[in-house]
Amino acid sequence: MHDTGEWQALSAHRETLDGVHLRDLFNGDRHRGERLVAETDGWLLDYSKNRLTAETVELLAALADQAGLRLRIEAMFDGEPVNTTENRPAWHVALRRPNPPPEVRAEFDRMAEFAAKVRSGHWQTVVNIGIGGSDLGPAMATAALATHAHPELDVRFLSNVDGAHFREITRGLDPALTLFVVVSKTFTTTETSTNARTARAWIADAVGDEQAASHFAAVTASPNKAQDLGIDADAVFAMWDWVGGRYSLASAVGLSLMIAVGPDAFAEMLAGMHHIDEHYRTAPWAENLPALLGLVGIWNRNFWGWPTYAVLPYSQELALFPAYIQQLDMESSGKSVQADGTPAATATGPVAWGQPGTNGQHAFHQLLHQGTDIVPVEFIGFCRPNHGLAEHHDLLMANLLAQAEALAFGAPEAGNPHRQFSGNRPSTVLLADRLTPRTLGQLVALYEHKVFTQATVWDINPFDQWGVELGKTLATDIAAELTGAAHPNPARDSSTQSLINRYLEHR
Ligand code: F6P
Repeated sequence: MHDTGEWQALSAHRETLDGVHLRDLFNGDRHRGERLVAETDGWLLDYSKNRLTAETVELLAALADQAGLRLRIEAMFDGEPVNTTENRPAWHVALRRPNPPPEVRAEFDRMAEFAAKVRSGHWQTVVNIGIGGSDLGPAMATAALATHAHPELDVRFLSNVDGAHFREITRGLDPALTLFVVVSKTFTTTETSTNARTARAWIADAVGDEQAASHFAAVTASPNKAQDLGIDADAVFAMWDWVGGRYSLASAVGLSLMIAVGPDAFAEMLAGMHHIDEHYRTAPWAENLPALLGLVGIWNRNFWGWPTYAVLPYSQELALFPAYIQQLDMESSGKSVQADGTPAATATGPVAWGQPGTNGQHAFHQLLHQGTDIVPVEFIGFCRPNHGLAEHHDLLMANLLAQAEALAFGAPEAGNPHRQFSGNRPSTVLLADRLTPRTLGQLVALYEHKVFTQATVWDINPFDQWGVELGKTLATDIAAELTGAAHPNPARDSSTQSLINRYLEHR
């Protein structure tokens, strides 16, 4: 990759921008802020405050072509086994087509029927038990769409194996009125099965063992395992091995979200995702929001060498969005080998992090403005709020705009170096009219395809996550020692062993 003409042209071009300040770029083109933007269905992507020019975009588009991005997108959309290390498709886009595969349509109808029953039944609380992709997407979206939620149904999310989470989530709940939705693609995830067993005992304690089954539903690609846990087949919803956990929000993994907001809002979210899917598949790179977001990410990561970026939604409803993006991006792009197993030729996934604005301004923005590291920022905002407090919203958005402006342009030299704002710090703004099920779906698909764009350029497989396996295996071994089921492992390193000993002494 780095030895192609396209990559080298970008490297040479990047050197021409040495010493060029964003101030110079804006002064040199009075319409830059209107030119370096792209739009689709109400979403505006303004990438003008990055250290690039129109020529950069052309060169990045050539890089995308050279990497075969168009063909890779077609392969993904056609359901080809693009997840090469697991030899299966990553076909999440099929879930949100208006004409999905029949098995997807059938499962959506079952979910809608179940959700409608729960929404009109006697349940007070629904607790989603899952972790990673079986938690972050539905939890993020349920918080984001709170204004669409059933007013009398409390939907909560239990993920951590830490018993404090079980205690916190079940605090004050009436077991007789609580429904658990156990979500696990594999149904082998320790955290989820431990929480599910504890939930089962908690319910059985209150309503008796016979009644307990009616308090559980499951979503999984291993239905037999869910039934082994005593969950009725009627309440088990399918997902498929061709849907990756972190790409699964549009599948039955979104059941708790559908229960919260209803099948219609859920369908609107799917329609929003599909809009971006089609846009990604068909729009030229220079007008293609997910492709541009990804290519600007490549530019910042590989040609400027910045190792992290911040996702800052100026929306309390999107408070969980940075955490969702952390899994989506870092589990997909944190790879050191290319698809063929050879070492990655360039730096791959940057660290993604963030918090909702304006809170972060009173915490880490100091480093964004004056730190020695440059952190490109992706701001997300909306023109209209989902509440009537107009003054709050104007202030919120004024802050988003001010932060992007301050990062880019800094302030005139002050005598005091401590008060200096050098500026020239890159950011991108994603702006939509309002946060709705449709715009949320669009935002999710936008980031999914951003990640795919980058993975294609890096030639890595964004759909596996072998890097999480070793820790799981070691934790199983250590858990056996902590509970006395196994003897100490004589081959273990002295640090881990003495920490185990200390834990056992104090346990
Ligand atoms: O450990 C990582 C992971 O495999 C994620 O990729 C996945 O989203 C999560 O665990 C949960 O997996 P499951 O849905 O199989 O319980």
